[in-house]
Formats: sequence, C-alpha cells, structure tokens
Amino acid sequence: MYESMKYILKDANEHNYAVMAVNSVNMEMARAVISAAAEKHSPIIINIGVGQMKKLAHPSEMVPMIKEMAERVDVPVALNLDHGSTFEDEVAAMRWGFSSVMIDASSLPYEENVARVSNIVALAHARDICVEGELGHVGQANVGDNEHLDLYTNVAQARDYVNRTGIDALAVAIGTAHGDYPKGMVPKLDFDRLAELKAELKMPLVLHGGSGSGEENIRKAVAGGINKINVCTDAFHAAEKAMKAKWEENPNTNYLEIMMTAEAAIKKFVMDYIDLIGSANRYGYGATFSDSQE
Ligand code: 13P
Repeated sequence: MYESMKYILKDANEHNYAVMAVNSVNMEMARAVISAAAEKHSPIIINIGVGQMKKLAHPSEMVPMIKEMAERVDVPVALNLDHGSTFEDEVAAMRWGFSSVMIDASSLPYEENVARVSNIVALAHARDICVEGELGHVGQANVGDNEHLDLYTNVAQARDYVNRTGIDALAVAIGTAHGDYPKGMVPKLDFDRLAELKAELKMPLVLHGGSGSGEENIRKAVAGGINKINVCTDAFHAAEKAMKAKWEENPNTNYLEIMMTAEAAIKKFVMDYIDLIGSANRYGYGATFSDSQE
C-alpha cells in the first residue's frame, strides 16, 4: 500500500531498525525494489532525485506507476522527493502525489535552512506528507567530503533545528558521502556523534550515501539509531555488473533480456540489503509479518 514515509519511519524508530530508500529511475527499478520489499515483507521507500526526474524519471509517468505498484503489494511503500531544494521542486512534488519530500537546504546559512524547511513543513503537514530535512552536509565521496568534520551535524544545533522546523526525519552527516569512494576506501563513521544525536532527538534519523559504506558500518549505524538508509550508486552498480556479465557471456543479448537481467539484479541486491538492515517481516505500526500469520 501507498503510505506517508512518516508512519514507516515512526515504526522503524520505535523498533530500532532501518528501511531502505532506493533511488529508482525507471519502471524496472521501481518494480525490482517494490517486489523485493514485498517478498521480504518489508516496508520500502522509493527515492527520486530532482536531477533524475529531469533526465529520465519524470513524475507524470513515475508517480502513477509507483502508486499502482504500491497498491498491489501488502507492505507500506513511500515515494520521497530526494534532495529537493527549491520551493518550486517541493510544491511540484506534493502536487504530483509524492508521499514524502526531502528539502535539502544544508548548504545554506543555518537561519535560511530553518526558514525554508519550516515553510515546506507547514505546507506538507497540511496534507499528511512527511518532510525530511538535512543539517550538517552530506557531500560527495569522490572529493572526500566525508572526511570534513566541519560538515558533520552539530548535536545542539540539531535540537534547535528540529524544534523550530517540525521535520519528521533528519538526515545527519556522520561520515558518509554520496557516490563512489576512492577505490578500496571504506569511510570511518562517527558513531559517538550518532549516539549523541539519537539520545538528544529520539526521532527518525537518515543516512545518505549508503553506497560503499561497508556492511559493518551499516549494521552499526542501524544499531545506533539510523532508520532510513539512502542507496543509489550501489543499486545502479548491481544492475551494471549483471548487464556487463550478461553481454560478456553473450554479446547478442537483446534489449528485453538485458533489461530483465538488470531488474533481477536490483531485486536481489535490495532483498539482501533488507536482511542487512533488519526491515524484513515488518509491516510497520509495530506489526510484524508473523503477527499477521497468527
Ligand atoms: P549513494 O549514491 O552514495 O548511495 O547515495 C544515495 C543518496 O544518499 C541519495 O540521497
């Protein structure tokens, strides 16, 4: 079923697990992600970024399709605008029917971040749409932003930010970054800071830049209070790897077969990731799949 991300993350926060948010840029990706969640009896979030929308995943096609896919499965599925930044992006996403919006004003001065996000929260909450904000800044892995301690989320400021904006979920900067890290590098996460943030805020926390972060880090992040993990690059890589292997095996593999190969690879990747972060067999709202079998 199609849900506001608010309820998905509320349950994850109360029961100490995390839900994947996978950037999905076409029908095959969205279907792979939703069917993986359905098979694992796991809540799931579909992310679409503003750039991705402009290049390929136009909301006029994607939103009705994802809603339809969501209504066919018995797990909660949310659709989240990823890294919206302008007022226009946010209002457009709400009008298209997204059940959640992220507003990323994290590169702006603090007071402007608070003002922009508060404005969006007022509009979104009137329609039961969930809002994710970001404080500190999760940058790019290929330029080493993950090592810039000055970009990490400040705990006292986060308290003030949440109080003043009224957001439902907070994206925190604790040492991850978007995209591929330099070859062989696994980021070092600031788990002490994460513990302080969780103790202070007691609300759903989001980790951006899930790709390449290492299983051990991801497990510890979930145990430390992360409730939503954004993954894009690694999902693309799962598809690319399978497509390359298929073409190496048979260079004449046709379009239909190659797209099916990509979809199957993404589905497998998401199913494994769901096991890693503990969202399998959870329906949300405190109910688990086993409850519904009783
Ligand atoms: P990755 O591409 O590093 O997984 O980051 C995804 C993300 O955080 C989207 O907001």
